[in-house]
Amino acid sequence: MRTPIDCRGAVGKSILSRGRAAAKQVDEVAPAEKALPPDAEGARLEGVPLGTIAREVGTPCYVYGAAGIREQYAQLRDALGKLDARLHYSVKANSSIAILSLLRDLGAGLDIVSGGELFRALLAGYKGKDIVFSGVGKTEREMEEALRAEVLLFNVESEQELHALNRVSKRLGVKAPAALRVNPEVLVDTPHPYTRTGEKGMKFGIPFDEALSVGKIAATLPNIRLLGLDMHVGSQISQFAPYEVGLQRLLHLRREIERATKISLEYLDIGGGLAVTYDAERSVDVRQFGKVISALVGGSGLKVILEPGRFLVGNAGVLLTRVLYRKRSGGKEFIITDAGMTDLLRPSHYNAFHRIEAVKPTGRTTVADVVGPICESGDFLALDRQIDDAAPGDLLAVQSTGAYGFVMASNYNSRPRPAEVLVDGDKFAVITRRESYDDLTRNEVAVPDWRSE
Ligand SMILES: Cc1ncc(COP(=O)(O)O)c(C=O)c1O
Repeated sequence: MRTPIDCRGAVGKSILSRGRAAAKQVDEVAPAEKALPPDAEGARLEGVPLGTIAREVGTPCYVYGAAGIREQYAQLRDALGKLDARLHYSVKANSSIAILSLLRDLGAGLDIVSGGELFRALLAGYKGKDIVFSGVGKTEREMEEALRAEVLLFNVESEQELHALNRVSKRLGVKAPAALRVNPEVLVDTPHPYTRTGEKGMKFGIPFDEALSVGKIAATLPNIRLLGLDMHVGSQISQFAPYEVGLQRLLHLRREIERATKISLEYLDIGGGLAVTYDAERSVDVRQFGKVISALVGGSGLKVILEPGRFLVGNAGVLLTRVLYRKRSGGKEFIITDAGMTDLLRPSHYNAFHRIEAVKPTGRTTVADVVGPICESGDFLALDRQIDDAAPGDLLAVQSTGAYGFVMASNYNSRPRPAEVLVDGDKFAVITRRESYDDLTRNEVAVPDWRSE
């Protein structure tokens, strides 16, 4: 289903390249008299033919390009210029340990929302000081884990959470570094309502008109160190207004809190949310974004934290899937693939649009629903889509699936989750192996071990 696009620009670029020209580029990087591999005429991600990956790893599988992630990171980093700012990648977008390591090598910190994400972050070699902990429902156990890891900041989302954090910190004999996540209550325009978080009446953050009083309470709690303010207005945002208005509100609140508590705040976390191009949207002008943010917070003396997720990884990945069958029903054409909503939930959950390209185009197109094997009518990758007239056995690449793809995969219909592959130049590696049937049932028992009081 295609979401309406109000701001059309240059058509979103495929990250795939094709044929001998692409192969030549790779040879230029590594000058060897390599014979072209059998998949040379098919689409490649960086230097690696997707056909080779499908043959060796199987389908469905996610394939990410390291160069794309590095480019996005550099672009955003550069756009912030001299601003005292750090990018804390939002782990929820794509939490593969290899992706986290790649971003650590670039200098990123992390934004986490659970104990599981903290566990991954530490496995990937991050230190507590690299990590901010967001999330509307942190448990005391998760707080304890994050305190022991000495995270940089807890982004606290309610007064009750603040008291819980104070309690847990007291138990451990430490002071928790805290920022208040405030709901700036701004208007946010995103393609789907589920990706808005900074509007009035949402579950996220402390309601704006309560934030000053929560700040005053924080200042009195013995095991809390109030260090900053935080907002996150939503995801897939291509206008700057919500950031501008939100930041103005937070800067005003900062002055009020500092005046009332005599505490100087150190951090301003402005969240994530920058959009990527899925279809024909105009891409975000990151330089302009950098200028807007710098103009507002440049002279504030605050250390700025950004939590980009989708922007860094969204366009860097494809979901590789094989056509299983073709069928015609009720005058409609169906392309049935081995990937479905359990592998990529976004089309069915958010009505999200993802470009789909044939790895080796047939040269003919058709209009079809591209659907998965799951027993749900809502299981689709694309509806009424003009698409390559792919036949059973052909490979399709679902574009821009690097963010909120694999991480939202499920085992519904007892389907093992797909593999993940990282490409870097002309090399590729499996970074998450495909789940097995044993993985599916590992934690289950056939005969219950009954207990009673
Ligand atoms: C608190 C927080 N920070 C950052 C992000 C990352 O957002 P995005 O992937 O749109 O940059 C999210 C995602 O919803 C979030 O909830």
